[in-house]
Amino acid sequence: MTKPISLTRYLIEQQRQYQHIPDQLRLLLEVVARACKGISHAVNKGALGGVLGSAGSENVQGEVQKKLDIIANDVLIEANEWGGHLAAMASEEMEDIYTVPKRYPQGEYLLVFDPLDGSSNIDVNVSIGTIFSVLQKNHDHAEVTADDFLQPGSRQVAAGYCVYGPQTTLVLTLGNGVAMFTLDREQGSFVLTQENVQIPEDTKEFAINMSNYRHWDEPVKRYIDECLQGAQGPRGKNFNMRWIASMVADVHRIITRGGIFMYPWDQREPNKPGKLRLLYEANPMSWLIEQAGGAATNGRQRILDVQPQSLHERVSVVLGSRNEVERVTRYHLEAT
Ligand code: AHG
Ligand code: MN
Ligand code: MN
Ligand code: MN
Repeated sequence: MTKPISLTRYLIEQQRQYQHIPDQLRLLLEVVARACKGISHAVNKGALGGVLGSAGSENVQGEVQKKLDIIANDVLIEANEWGGHLAAMASEEMEDIYTVPKRYPQGEYLLVFDPLDGSSNIDVNVSIGTIFSVLQKNHDHAEVTADDFLQPGSRQVAAGYCVYGPQTTLVLTLGNGVAMFTLDREQGSFVLTQENVQIPEDTKEFAINMSNYRHWDEPVKRYIDECLQGAQGPRGKNFNMRWIASMVADVHRIITRGGIFMYPWDQREPNKPGKLRLLYEANPMSWLIEQAGGAATNGRQRILDVQPQSLHERVSVVLGSRNEVERVTRYHLEAT
């Protein structure tokens, strides 16, 4: 039997194979993985660790913060601030960027994360996760500002998520495909369990919050109506539906067996482009999906090409199996 490959070994071998992976980036990813391990332990303890329930505060988007939203945010900051690899961090749970304190050396990378994705599932013991994206600081000026983070997703240098489910699984891309690592709790390390992950081009499974149907735009209604008509309808096949309400868990299923995920713009908040956040939800997930052979658009445009205007900007999301995403995008373009 071949020896298991740890995340550490995988990253070193990637570095040898692709010269564009600097030591600092490798160190950064190791630290993020270590933080995810810490979050995974807290999640596992649940009620025994006193981590369930609401924190009684709100984040900048007006969402009630759960205790674990804040714990996960703190774990990621504390793990990453002293290593010398980062200039600043940004997160769903912080209104402004977090600049690395002056007592530590400043690195050239920026880390942006959704510390705990799927907050509504924390207290009901359903899969949740952490999503992260790594960018490079703009070298034109010494002081790092929020503007440094406003880069299109195509400029990410690494992205990933960690899903805390029946297993804890870390899924990662550095732009050379997607690799999956499973946390071995006895060894305390992430072990490579799948490489060159590929999403099937076609699917019979869609993920959308159906309760919002009446608020959707016509192209989204058209796509879902056709899926619901099943084998007798224009698609000529029966579709299944899944909605976990944790983007990490829904995306993980799609990366594993295909499917399409949508959180489209809707009329509840007509002035917002969507619910999900561009920098720390849509961009890292879109890059992973593309690296696995899938596609990701906002209904009209490739998500990775969207130029962000603000840190907590929202976006409409359609991602997953390539042919389905292209169909939904075509329906949008035909309607305008
Ligand atoms: P978060 O918990 O980080 O705020 O993100 C929740 C997001 C995403 O994970 C999920 O796909 C979506 O919200 C679920 O929204 P609904 O509750 O509207 O279905
Ligand atoms: Mn939230
Ligand atoms: Mn989220
Ligand atoms: Mn979150």
